[in-house]
Amino acid sequence: MSGFPKVLESTQDLSKGQISTLLSMAKSLKEGQNTPFFFDQEQRPFLATLFLENSTRTKTSFAIAALKLGAHYIDFNVSTSSLSKGENLEETLLTLKYQGVDACVIRTPNSNELDKFKKDPPLCLINGGDGTNQHPTQALLDLFTLFELGLDPQGKTVAIVGDIAHSRVANSLVDLLQRFGAKVIFCGPEECLPKSTTGAVMVTESLDEALELSDVIYTLRIQKERHTGPTAYYDSYHKLFGLNLNKIMGLKKGPVILHPGPVNIGVELSADVLKSPFYKGYEQVINSIYMRMAIISAMLGN
Ligand code: CP
Repeated sequence: MSGFPKVLESTQDLSKGQISTLLSMAKSLKEGQNTPFFFDQEQRPFLATLFLENSTRTKTSFAIAALKLGAHYIDFNVSTSSLSKGENLEETLLTLKYQGVDACVIRTPNSNELDKFKKDPPLCLINGGDGTNQHPTQALLDLFTLFELGLDPQGKTVAIVGDIAHSRVANSLVDLLQRFGAKVIFCGPEECLPKSTTGAVMVTESLDEALELSDVIYTLRIQKERHTGPTAYYDSYHKLFGLNLNKIMGLKKGPVILHPGPVNIGVELSADVLKSPFYKGYEQVINSIYMRMAIISAMLGN
């Protein structure tokens, strides 16, 4: 795609027009309108994943997306690499570049780590989640899922419930929801609410209020590993902010429930919710392949 960034660090790196094109590309890929192999088989690009934090969904879906497009896929193993001997990320990426790798998906615990590569990128880079900063491809696939569910965000209300303060997904998602016309509600215990509530039309500690007003409930994982303050609220979290079928059945309208995964089952969502028709988390997983195929082809296609 013309003008597509070489480093996709944030949803802010994309114009609304580019995002709309990615949504159309993902839709046609899902509907099977594109040829099986997007890339010319004589010039198959190489895509690597380099994950400094664990992942199931992001890493595997990028691998599948690359292979479905006809690209080569390299699962760069951080623990057996020279990163573990102290080589820095820049030298590692330059090495991959000179070996012929075209694009690398990076997950890092350090917020804004890709910033330093924007001026002179060693190769195409895609942020697979950086600290508490951004997870742009997750938010893009979430936006795609909303459209696929017939929920154009324009005029809809989306409640983001949970650990917003520590969520890179929330940062990316709020930006996209706002740009596509949704109203966003933040809901959670005080310890999980962000210091800046820019982007939200309402902030509430009442789940009932959020459920009442919303078309979509986007639940987030409690990220204990990122909390530095007290986590006493954790014990009462499910009672106050978790969703179970009893709570849902009491609502006038059945909600659409999303979660980027992994779910802490019994905390944000009970096991019966995951098995219910209200839960669309597996739709997100399915759609992740097509949105990530769209991103790779926009970045590496001519
Ligand atoms: N949603 C998400 O980023 O999940 P993984 O950590 O499994 O990649």
